[in-house]
Amino acid sequence: MDIESLKKEILGFKVSSQEQLEEFRMKFISRKSVIGELFGKMKEVSNEERKAFGQKINELKDLAQDKFQELIRELENSSSSSSTSHKDLTLPSGFAPLGSSHPITAVRNEIIDIFSKIGFNVSSGPEIEDDWHNFTALNFPPNHPAREMQDTFFIEKDPDIALRTHTSSVQIRVMENEKPPIRTLSPGRVFRNEAISARAHCIFHQVEGLYVDKNVSFVDLKQTLYFFAKEMFGEKTKIRFRPSYFPFTEPSAEIDISCNICGGDGCNICKYTGWVEIAGSGMVDPNVLANCNIDPEEYTGFAFGMGIERIAMLKWQINDLRLFTENDIRFLEQFKSL
Ligand code: PHE
Repeated sequence: MDIESLKKEILGFKVSSQEQLEEFRMKFISRKSVIGELFGKMKEVSNEERKAFGQKINELKDLAQDKFQELIRELENSSSSSSTSHKDLTLPSGFAPLGSSHPITAVRNEIIDIFSKIGFNVSSGPEIEDDWHNFTALNFPPNHPAREMQDTFFIEKDPDIALRTHTSSVQIRVMENEKPPIRTLSPGRVFRNEAISARAHCIFHQVEGLYVDKNVSFVDLKQTLYFFAKEMFGEKTKIRFRPSYFPFTEPSAEIDISCNICGGDGCNICKYTGWVEIAGSGMVDPNVLANCNIDPEEYTGFAFGMGIERIAMLKWQINDLRLFTENDIRFLEQFKSL
């Protein structure tokens, strides 16, 4: 029996009925098939040739099996197309998989939407900043620890150029270029020299807000953030202000909201305090206004800043910051409807 001619016969085999398919199966697939017989001949082949012979008939067997599957499919197709069942052309087509916004993008947009309802616009600035916009204009004393290498990624020394550590730098740029009233949000990426963990990252996102006008007071700051907290986390949300310190605001306050997970009863997200921190804030320090050629005798302002990751973590009870940057599709797919 010639292997080559068997190969040709297999490749050229055509079927138009179950009987012919069965014929193929008997001849090439079943135990009593010609290929089965060839396997039986293995013992008669000399030791030197056995390996090559074995290889050939194995190939032939694989070929026959592939062809058999192909013939089955062909027969199925031809019987369905020749039968009376017509294809339903009105059936909707399959849906192409749709992408979705990254949760950070979704939350950033939500924050912008909320503040735009009360008149805030959006401004942006460079991620690589000079010392003036990131520190000096913001009233950082010359030896403030935030300027040290451990917090800031410096790119050049003298004059200092660094990756911005907050988007307060954008607020300086806006104040330098625009006249009050100013009501602006600056969302963007910020960089700090921190070890990556579930709670910290060296790259994250902030939205900072700034309002400068005549007679802006701490009450305006409170109401604005109260409005934001209720819009973002629900009508029942409470806020509280804790005294704090930032070089660029005076007085300064840290803002907590009542824990949106347990409603203030205490859980592991709020570490059983009933409160979670969402932002830093305060009245713009008169020195900062003066640095931007805005007269602090005439104008006052408030500013606040929050981490977008933090808001997203609270909103969806995500407990590891690293999930936002790992791009695990199983994580991202959960935000499909956004
Ligand atoms: N820039 C501060 C930070 O990055 C946040 C902040 C902004 C605080 C505005 C007060 C006022 O932590």
